Amino acid sequence: MYTRLSYLGVTMVLWSRPRPYRRMMLCLWLLILALSVATLMDILFWDKLQTPPSSPRRLDQPVRSGPAEFEVILDSRDRAKPDPDFGLTPLSSLQEDQLLFVPLNQMRNSPFSPLSTERSREVISNAKRESAARVPRTPGYTGRPVRVQLDGLKSDMDESFLHKYGFNEVVSERIPLRRGLPENRDPACLEERFSESLPSATVVICFHDEAWSTLLRTVHSVLDTAPKEHLQEVLLVDDLSQHGHLKSVLSEYVSRLKGVRLIRSMRRLGVAGCRSLGAARAAGEVLVFMDSHCECHSGWLQPLLERVAQDRTRVVSPIIDIIDWQTFQYNATQWPHRGVFDWRLDFYWETLSLQKHQDSPVEPIQSPALAGTVLAIDRHFFQSVGGYDPGMLLWGAEHTEISIRVWSCGGSMEVIPCSRVAHLGHHHPHFLLPDQDVMQKNKIRIAEIWLEAYRKIYYRRDTLAHFIRQSESPNITERVTLKKSLGCRNFHWFLTNIYPELHVPQDRPSLSGELYNVGTGYCADYPRGQGQEGVAMSIAPCSGNGNQHCELNSFGEVRWGPFARLCFDALVEKVVLTPCLPNQPPPNKPQWRIIKLTGQVVYLPKQRCLEAVKDKGGDQTDMGDQHRGATQTGLFLRPCAHHPRQQWHFEQLVVP
Ligand SMILES: *[C@@H]1O[C@H](CO)[C@@H](O)[C@H](O)[C@H]1NC(C)=O
Ligand SMILES: *[C@@H]1O[C@H](CO)[C@@H](O)[C@H](O)[C@H]1NC(C)=O
Repeated sequence: MYTRLSYLGVTMVLWSRPRPYRRMMLCLWLLILALSVATLMDILFWDKLQTPPSSPRRLDQPVRSGPAEFEVILDSRDRAKPDPDFGLTPLSSLQEDQLLFVPLNQMRNSPFSPLSTERSREVISNAKRESAARVPRTPGYTGRPVRVQLDGLKSDMDESFLHKYGFNEVVSERIPLRRGLPENRDPACLEERFSESLPSATVVICFHDEAWSTLLRTVHSVLDTAPKEHLQEVLLVDDLSQHGHLKSVLSEYVSRLKGVRLIRSMRRLGVAGCRSLGAARAAGEVLVFMDSHCECHSGWLQPLLERVAQDRTRVVSPIIDIIDWQTFQYNATQWPHRGVFDWRLDFYWETLSLQKHQDSPVEPIQSPALAGTVLAIDRHFFQSVGGYDPGMLLWGAEHTEISIRVWSCGGSMEVIPCSRVAHLGHHHPHFLLPDQDVMQKNKIRIAEIWLEAYRKIYYRRDTLAHFIRQSESPNITERVTLKKSLGCRNFHWFLTNIYPELHVPQDRPSLSGELYNVGTGYCADYPRGQGQEGVAMSIAPCSGNGNQHCELNSFGEVRWGPFARLCFDALVEKVVLTPCLPNQPPPNKPQWRIIKLTGQVVYLPKQRCLEAVKDKGGDQTDMGDQHRGATQTGLFLRPCAHHPRQQWHFEQLVVP
C-alpha cells in the first residue's frame, strides 16, 4: 500500500520540494488549466458544429426507439415515382474542394458499379488536381452532376482515411463495389437442399457515417447473393449520419436499386434503437440484422432461413469471416467455433476442438452468445422476446444482452457453418466509441437485469463499471418487468445449462483481486490480454481497472483473467498460464498457497516461492542475480526468502 501514490499524494510530495520546483509546478498547473479550458472550448464549439439544432442531445444520452421519435425522410419504395431528372438539392454546406463530380449519366447507365476500379482512381486524381488548382466551380456544371463527397481528401490520404473510418478506405475505393468471395464452404454444404417454402427475409442494415464503398458493397453483396424469392427487401436505416455522401447522393442511388429501401432517423439511436426501428418497418418474416461493412458469400441466406423456419425461436448466425482492414483481403475463419463472453462481459468467438465436431462439419453448433455482425431472427419472436434493449447506448454489448435474453426466455442460438458472411475488421475495435463509459453503461444494464448475484463477479473485474454504477442507477424497471412477464429463467440456469464452461470464481476476500508485489510495487499481469495459453506471466504497473484480477481458490489454483479458465503453472522456473484442470471431483492436489504472515506465495510441488523480477537498474544484486543470467521482467519461482519481491497481497479494488 505504502508505495502506491494517489494523485493527491504526488501533489503533496511535490509541493514540499524547494522553490524552483514550486515555480515549475505552478507553470505546469497553469498549463494544464489552460489546456483544460481549450479542450472545453473545443468541445462546446464541436457540439455546435456537429449537432443539428433539432437534436441537442449528446451522443451518449439514452436513446429510445418509438414511433413518435423518428421521422422518415426518404423511403424509395413509398415514393410515387422517382423524378426522372433527379432534381438535386445543392449540398451547400460542403466545401467545394472536397467534392467530387460524377456525371449522372455514368451512374444511370451502370447503377450497380458507379465507381469501378479505374473510375475511382480517375475520380480521386481529378479531385486532387482540381483542388490543387483551386478552380472555382460553377453551379451549372454540365450533365447535372451527382456530387459525391469524399471527406478529408488530402495528400496524406491513407492516414486520414484510416483515422476517419478505422480501415483503409482508399484501398476499398479501388475495389469494385461488386466482387465475389472465394468458395470456402465445406463440400458437404453444396449438397444441401432447402425447403421450397422458406420464409422471406428483410436484411436490416443500420449505418452511421459509414464509408460509401463499404456500405454500397454490403448492399450489392446482399442483392447479388440472396435469392430474389427469399429476399423481401434490404432495409437501410440511416442512424443520423453526418457525412455528405450519405445524404441525397445515397438517396438517389438507392432509389434506383430494386428491393432496397432507405429510412432515416432524425435522432441518434445507436445500434439497438436503429435495429428496432428497422424491425418495426420490416416486411419480411425473418429479420437479418447486418453490419454496414459486410460481404456475403454465395448461398449464405438459405441455411439461415431454413433453421429459423424449423424453429421460430431459434436465432442464428453465419460463420463470420474477416476482411482485412488494411488490404481488404478475405480471410476465412476457422470452424468449428461458437460465441461466448467472459466475466468482463466481452464477447469472443471461441474455436472449438476439431475432434468433437469432426463427424459433422455441416451441423450447426449451439452458441451461448452471438455477435451482432449478422443475426437472423424470426420477426415475431424478435418482438415477443422484447427486441433490442432500448436502454442500450450507441453500441457495445447489446448483442450479449439479447443473447442471454434469448436463451433465458425460451429461445436458442446457433452458428450455421454452411452460411458465411465476411465482416470488415476495424483497426481498433472501439474506434467509433466517443466515450469509454458507453460500453460500461451497457454492460451495467446486462449485469443489473440478468446477472443477479453473479453481477459482483463482473464488477470486480470492471471497476470503472462499479464506480459508474455507484454514481448512477440505470432505469431497468421495464426490462425487469419484461423478464418476469416472459417467465425467463435465471442466470444460474443459464450458466448450468447453456454455458457450463464459464467457470464461476470464488472471489474470496484477501485471496482475490490484483496480485500486488511489495518489492516492485507492480501487479501480476498477463502481457497479451485474453486467451492464449503457455505465455509467461509478467508484472506491470497496477491498472486498478480490474483486468489484472485473479484469485487463489480453495482448490489451490491461481486462476487468471476474465474467463477464469487459465491457471498459474510452472515451466522450469518461469510462471506461465495453462488451462486449468477440471477441479471437481476430487480436487487435484493444491498447487499454490499464500502464507498470510509473510506474504509468500508458495508453489507447493517444488516448495518454491513466487518472485517478481523487474528488468530495470542494478537493484537486484542482493538476491544473487549472477546465477540467473540476464534479468528479465516476469514472475519466477525462486528458493523462498524473506524479501519484498517475494511478498504479495491480493488487493480487492471494489466491494460490490
Ligand atoms: C489475413 O491473412 C493474411 C495472410 O494469411 C494475414 O497476413 C493477415 O493478417 C490476415 N488478416 C486478418 C485480419 O486476420
Ligand atoms: C423508469 O422508466 C419507467 C418506464 O420507462 C418510468 O415509468 C419510470 O418513471 C422510470 N423511473 C425513473 C426513476 O426514472
